[in-house]
Amino acid sequence: MSKPRILIARAVFPEVVEHLSLHFQVESNQEDVLRSPAELAARLVDKDGALTTGSERIDRSLLAACPRLRIVANMAVGYNNFDVDAMTAAGVQGTNTPDVLTETTADFGFALLMATARRVTESEHFLRAGRWNKWSYDMFAGAEVHGTRLGIIGMGRIGQGIARRGAHGFGMDVVYHNRTRLDPALEAECKARYVAKEELLRTADHVVLVLPYTADSHHTIGAAELAQMKPTATLVNIARGGIVDDAALAQALRERRIAAAGLDVFEGEPQVHPGLLEVPNVVLTPHIASATVGTRLAMANLAADNLIAFFDGRGPLTPVNTPAVRTITPSI
Ligand code: GLV
Repeated sequence: MSKPRILIARAVFPEVVEHLSLHFQVESNQEDVLRSPAELAARLVDKDGALTTGSERIDRSLLAACPRLRIVANMAVGYNNFDVDAMTAAGVQGTNTPDVLTETTADFGFALLMATARRVTESEHFLRAGRWNKWSYDMFAGAEVHGTRLGIIGMGRIGQGIARRGAHGFGMDVVYHNRTRLDPALEAECKARYVAKEELLRTADHVVLVLPYTADSHHTIGAAELAQMKPTATLVNIARGGIVDDAALAQALRERRIAAAGLDVFEGEPQVHPGLLEVPNVVLTPHIASATVGTRLAMANLAADNLIAFFDGRGPLTPVNTPAVRTITPSI
């Protein structure tokens, strides 16, 4: 029986392409060409499976154009690029890459918090611009981190990792808000206390966002929420663009209604709201929270293993849906 055909939508580690080639007829994109939705659909029309990143949208019209497609393995833990309901109805399996990136992403969340509070990039720009002529006592004085209150919105695995770092490493008083409360044993282990969102925003010195992007979480932080925060507070978003109203945030930063922000994700990325580029009190990184070589390789391997296990008949390893109809085409 011929091997299933898969598309690797974006460039990945060459060894992952080689590994997948042992199991599938592979079309890769090692030139990393960005494709429009129509171009992506044209590539997928004769494919049984795909390995995607968060940049490829899998929606109703693409699914209608690609009737052979049985599985899309996302190389990301977030999968807001999937229309999950449409995939489920079309009988298409979706998978993501949880767990393998948890600690690395929590590390980065903390790095961004530290860089934001302690004005690391702002002071580096000052130095590189040749403006450091003398030391002064208040030069780039930032916000304290240790012993302050850390508020985490979204207390999944990554949120819990950030809580542990804050509580155990920095002696922070950790509060969190989530759709559901953690069980008491996990709360105790993370040394985190559940509070209402309003209390979190009003009392936290540092607010970190780690919740999934859904219709409900759109603009979780907008002008009203920014107005509730302390004027000395910092805000970090390592979750998804769209969770923060970037225009409202740019204005709040410009008017110093909060002290600073650290952003790894943006509404409409890779475009960045021009207002954010103009203010000095924001640390900006290009969606790299899980970007260590080891973690990105683990994510690519998990996405690949999902494809292999699925077509092998073992079922997906880390599914995000349970498709209504599933006809597994050729076995390998
Ligand atoms: C990255 O943003 C991911 O969802 O893995």
